[in-house]
Amino acid sequence: MIDRISVIGAGTMGSGIAQVAATYNIHVTVVDDNFDALEYSQNKLKKILNRLVEKEKILESDVQNIENHIQWTTDLNQASNSDVVIEAIIENIDIKKNLFSRLEAILSENCILATNTSSLSVSEIFSVIKLKHRALGIHFFNPVPIMKLVEIVPIEDTDAKVLQKIRFMLESWKKTVVEAKDTPGFIVNRVARPFYGEALKINEEGIADFATIDWAMKELGGFRMGPFELMDYIGNDVNYSATKAVYDGTNHNPRYKPSPIQKELVENGFLGRKSGRGYYNYSDNVEFPKPNKDIKTGKKIVTRILAMLINEAAEALNQTIASREDIDTAMATGVNYPKGLLEWADEIGIKTVLRQMKELQSATNDPRYQPSPLLEKMAYENVIFYS
Ligand code: NAI
Repeated sequence: MIDRISVIGAGTMGSGIAQVAATYNIHVTVVDDNFDALEYSQNKLKKILNRLVEKEKILESDVQNIENHIQWTTDLNQASNSDVVIEAIIENIDIKKNLFSRLEAILSENCILATNTSSLSVSEIFSVIKLKHRALGIHFFNPVPIMKLVEIVPIEDTDAKVLQKIRFMLESWKKTVVEAKDTPGFIVNRVARPFYGEALKINEEGIADFATIDWAMKELGGFRMGPFELMDYIGNDVNYSATKAVYDGTNHNPRYKPSPIQKELVENGFLGRKSGRGYYNYSDNVEFPKPNKDIKTGKKIVTRILAMLINEAAEALNQTIASREDIDTAMATGVNYPKGLLEWADEIGIKTVLRQMKELQSATNDPRYQPSPLLEKMAYENVIFYS
């Protein structure tokens, strides 16, 4: 039974994880080496909880209960009696390794150790600890209280019982759990790359502007947000570094090659909504550009991006990064795609998707359009993902 956890790092993610755990009556110790960060997190939580009371989502007594379940400290030793420690500090491999070495000296042998890293190798982070059977990645999505999806990432030594305990803990917090291999971007951050990358490529080729691509993906593709508005929402710096992490982590696979447009935006400080300007200008007096609602162009855009997304999902399955169900669940829950990509592939037809990929490949001669061998095999064998 897990009833005491520690969250190390009181930033965006750590604060969210603490809020969720405390909501489910877990005793949480939040540790941050920066006192101001702790104070900020504590005040922010108060505001969030008060807003939830105003919206009648929770009761005044829930606020008391949640707050009573969290203690805030700069002293790492306070984590010592935890059943699980979730690390959510700065994304830096050496700092994370150093933290886990220190933690292993403090914690009991039964305490489960987890990292919330989004782009580093989980097994490399834990290379410094001795008892590796109790270590894994637990990748939450931002904002943690709202996003249902969590990717759990075992390393080679992770004990199946540890994985099961964590799955159970997360499910009792009403999370949707998928399991991913310790590979760059896990499921969501890898399979979603073409949503951004192919949209940027289409724009680079002068086929359509940002507003038109966003319109096509929403109106004709059924996606909740277009790639450019979503990148502006996520933050172009965050999105760019996710792309670079996958590109670097896959020996510069051409499918993930970062776009010069995105690089330039980041270098110029056009980070998206948070800086007031990204692909779009968010100043009050500036009108949003209008899309060119040409259905033929729109359909071509959707077909191309969707073929690349399906190819990516098929390749993730081919590389056994996750099961077909988990790949589909992850994309529908983690990034709100209208449906799972492999389910979508079955609807479109594997042969059709393969043909679309081959057309892109022969038109450009660019290795990024190399179809997944799994699609080739399935088309040849005349099978579908969900038969
Ligand atoms: P953040 O910058 O908001 O917070 C990090 C916190 O860790 C800061 O308060 C800092 O004072 C503290 N910290 C740094 N080094 C520390 C140490 N040695 N000991 C104790 N506290 C320390 O970062 P954020 O966005 O919350 O990210 C945390 C982790 O979660 C990173 O690994 C990130 O890649 C990952 N992640 C972030 C997501 C996001 O959307 N922000 C999504 C999923 C994962």
